[in-house]
Amino acid sequence: MDWVTLDRIGQYTGTTVELRGWVANRRSSGRIRFLQLRDGPGTIQCVVLADKVTPEEFEFADKVPYESSVIIRGEVREDRRAPNGYEITVTRLELVSEAEPYPISKKDHGVGFLMDHRHLWLRSSRQRALLKLRAVITRTARAYFDELGFIGIEAPILTPTACEGTTSLFKVGYFDDSAYLTQSGQLYGEAAAMALGRIYVYGPTFRAEKSKTRRHLTEFWMIEPEMAFYDLADTIDLAEGLVCRIVSAALEECRPELSLLERDIKPLERVVAPFPRITYAEAVEVLKNKGLEFAWGDDFGGDEETVISEAFDRPVFITHYPAQVKAFYMKRDPADPRLALAVDMLASEGYGEVIGGGQREDSLEALEKSIEAHELDRGPLEWYLDLRRYGSVPHAGFGLGIERTVAWIAGIHHVRETIPFPRLMDRLYP
Ligand code: 4AD
Ligand code: MG
Repeated sequence: MDWVTLDRIGQYTGTTVELRGWVANRRSSGRIRFLQLRDGPGTIQCVVLADKVTPEEFEFADKVPYESSVIIRGEVREDRRAPNGYEITVTRLELVSEAEPYPISKKDHGVGFLMDHRHLWLRSSRQRALLKLRAVITRTARAYFDELGFIGIEAPILTPTACEGTTSLFKVGYFDDSAYLTQSGQLYGEAAAMALGRIYVYGPTFRAEKSKTRRHLTEFWMIEPEMAFYDLADTIDLAEGLVCRIVSAALEECRPELSLLERDIKPLERVVAPFPRITYAEAVEVLKNKGLEFAWGDDFGGDEETVISEAFDRPVFITHYPAQVKAFYMKRDPADPRLALAVDMLASEGYGEVIGGGQREDSLEALEKSIEAHELDRGPLEWYLDLRRYGSVPHAGFGLGIERTVAWIAGIHHVRETIPFPRLMDRLYP
């Protein structure tokens, strides 16, 4: 007999198949029992009738604990009323493993409880929708760069230096010495771009963020392209193309998931190029016009990002930040050395920053000065300075945070549900 998964059930109408999965729900009404079976790719209603199964099986269908694993055989019927269009009339019901009383029920649980049971919570339809959306987003992002001829490379997780400032470093023991978990693959991406031209790094990154906000995880994933001979404008064009491609893939491939998440897709349908491009100075004007007090030279926090992003109907690129709020590797604006050739992209609907990047400092002398000004230890960065000693070229890149992108496209409030097992300041379990 054929073991069939529910993504392919439509090809088996009128035949008898075997399904393997978990009992997501059940109910009985008189001589008829219904089991909701979840097999991974989908869920289906299984109808158990007294005259089609043994008395033991019929009895079992009334009692089988939620989330028990089972193998079911039965005939596939088309049924317009069923959520996925099909039903199974059960002819055999076999237990694989009986579940203990399942801790997650239909009633409202607090977030803390659900997070403690994250390993089980993943089975719920909302979490499955989010994980599928995430998978589509990461696959699409990689495909975008692969198809443009970028080479995917891996950057190390254990590193000797900070990339994004020394305050959010995770220090780990490294034999008799210590190392830091990477904050970004960028610096290694720059070395690879000098070898391969256009590359991207996709990997986990770590920040000891002491802020408990809806946008911060301590472990998150970034896709980071880095391109030799690109300037700031080129890198913005590339980022715009990536974001359009991701959003259209989500709209094409994840309609059922977005609808389950009750996502209003109209704002997503507006995510088409060109996105507005404004300078930091113009963004400060936006804040002032909304009546916010903000001093030139400060960095935007979550609140400011929300206000700026709500002023536009699609994502917005902000460039030319004061150099003092950006990392040491940013190239200064030749027209105004107070500014860095940096870019952030704020997602629409108040979601705030999902992309950070810019043009890199390609002058050895300027980079040496910047390392000193940022009071960074130069020793572990000698290799990075070499990239400016041996055929330095203008180059640029950016990093797109996967979790914030998923939260925005899914339309959910907090990033904690966008990654299978979130790591937060106060959460390391499970
Ligand atoms: O703006 P960031 O810090 O930029 C970099 O790390 C650059 N080195 C990237 C590059 O140019 N290659 O981070 C980039 C993105 C942010 O826009 C955000 O989406 C995400 O990474 N991000 C976080 N996501 C979740 N939790 C955190 N704590 C995050 N910090 C940054
Ligand atoms: Mg940033």
